[in-house]
Amino acid sequence: VATEARETTYGGAPPQAVSPHYDLSNDFYATWLDESMTYSCALWDDGARDETLESAQRRKLDYLAAAARARGARGVLDVGCGWGSMLRHLTGECGVERAVGLTLSAEQAEHVAATAGAAVEVAVENWADHDPGARYGAIVSAGAFEHFARLGMTREEKTAAYRQFFERCHEWLEPGSGMALQTIAKGEVQLDAQGMRDVVFLARHIFPKSDIPRLSEIATAAEGLFEVETVRNDRRHYVRTCAAWLERLEANSARAEAIVGAEAVDVYREYMRASIRQFDAGMAALLRIGLRRIEPAGGSR
Ligand SMILES: C[S@@+](CC[C@H](N)C(=O)[O-])C[C@H]1O[C@@H](n2cnc3c(N)ncnc32)[C@H](O)[C@@H]1O
Repeated sequence: VATEARETTYGGAPPQAVSPHYDLSNDFYATWLDESMTYSCALWDDGARDETLESAQRRKLDYLAAAARARGARGVLDVGCGWGSMLRHLTGECGVERAVGLTLSAEQAEHVAATAGAAVEVAVENWADHDPGARYGAIVSAGAFEHFARLGMTREEKTAAYRQFFERCHEWLEPGSGMALQTIAKGEVQLDAQGMRDVVFLARHIFPKSDIPRLSEIATAAEGLFEVETVRNDRRHYVRTCAAWLERLEANSARAEAIVGAEAVDVYREYMRASIRQFDAGMAALLRIGLRRIEPAGGSR
């Protein structure tokens, strides 16, 4: 009997277009990220002008863990775990028994395996390939959703691609449990000429083939699967985060250039400046969304 291969429903950016950015060099990223190697927007204390990036990243990890109600959960999934800061935070600070991280980057997975304890598992795996039969008490995802739709898709196609993701998350989660999603999104301010140049630069040099969501696309895609409990647009926190990253890159530029070359460092400088302009103008948003799994009508599975 001929068996057909399971049809892949993944509508995100091709993994081979995503992973080179994260595989560039762990040593290079260490020259400008904070010591936990968190590569997504921090959560700053607005009242403390001299707060360190380390402290603001810790606050963000805490916030997302709380929004997902991950504290004390037996198993937590981190979709797009990067260099593992959330996985270490969950098992080290939040009493989570087992934290599973997915990344498309072999370099990142190597770092996670070397720095996290026995309670952490990491896989170089697209979320769409992760076992649908796995069960988790909470899900977190920061800075990965930006890759879950392809450049050039229509609004309907994007929403359908995001819905595949939410359907799978719904399947993975225990009844009544939660999920925290952090993602860059399109802002409410129209792109001007500089904004357009910045978007083209980012698509060409930093995140090829990926398209970021609109809040309305996320809301539509999650309808009937997840209840939205909280939404924050912290775009100004990304201005501050990128400024901190740029400052560190400048302070360590000699070392960074020795690792990846002067040209690549220039590209990253421009990437930070373009991002600062986008978030500052409101052409890009930074969403942190707390979601609760909705139980199917007629009872849980
Ligand atoms: C910007 S990094 C954020 C890392 C981490 N969450 C943090 O905040 O430091 C994006 C991560 O998403 C992962 N990623 C992107 N698309 C993915 C996919 N389809 N499946 C699994 N991981 C994915 C990348 O490999 C990378 O680890």
